[in-house]
Amino acid sequence: MTRPAGGVRPARASDLPVLQEIERAAGSLFAPLGMDLVADDDPSSVEQLTPYARAGRAFVSVDGDDRPVGYLLLDVIDVAAHIEQVSVRPDHARQGIGRALIERAASWASAHGLQALTLTTYTGVPWNGPYYERLGFRYLSPDKETPGLRAIRDRERASGLDAWPRASMSRGLAGPPADD
Ligand SMILES: CC(C)(COP(=O)(O)OP(=O)(O)OC[C@H]1O[C@@H](n2cnc3c(N)ncnc32)[C@H](O)[C@@H]1OP(=O)(O)O)[C@@H](O)C(=O)NCCC(=O)NCCS
Repeated sequence: MTRPAGGVRPARASDLPVLQEIERAAGSLFAPLGMDLVADDDPSSVEQLTPYARAGRAFVSVDGDDRPVGYLLLDVIDVAAHIEQVSVRPDHARQGIGRALIERAASWASAHGLQALTLTTYTGVPWNGPYYERLGFRYLSPDKETPGLRAIRDRERASGLDAWPRASMSRGLAGPPADD
């Protein structure tokens, strides 16, 4: 598996405008699927990103010039580290960058005594649900969602994101998944 040239490190304040560019570029992957609401969604503002960086819950994967090419944001939801966002620039996709970011999130969560990694995602988009399943995540039926996850799903439904099939997923933190 190819690793990003510069590895994964915590995000700094100076990285945040680049993260917005990455989110906008990564979102464009949804346009050919007719998921315009997702493709055209505005990226998070610097004000929204700043608390993640300050709390050490934003990670970037950087190129050889230390410029971010992918990033991941974590929230703590109930007993889990929740992946609020993971995005990789399409011109750097499929090189293991997303996986490296997710494994860094898993290490962070384990180090903070959390029990699982969670996320919400589209079940029918190849680089969403099926990809996360390959990384060891499993779908959670609504009755297995924790109160915090249920609240996130309620907000997503209210904002129209469930126009396409969407679900919560969880991965226990016993250890990394085996390679395919
Ligand atoms: C999800 C995402 C972060 C993965 O990043 P990545 O660095 O490409 O991921 P990895 O290199 O670790 O794994 C790539 C795997 O994703 C899947 N995948 C990625 N792009 C794909 C595509 N265009 N078509 C089909 N599968 C795709 C495949 O399983 C692929 O494995 P393969 O290359 O061995 O076939 C990236 O695709 C992305 O930013 N997507 C847009 C934003 C998004 O959907 N974010 C998640 C929801 S918040």
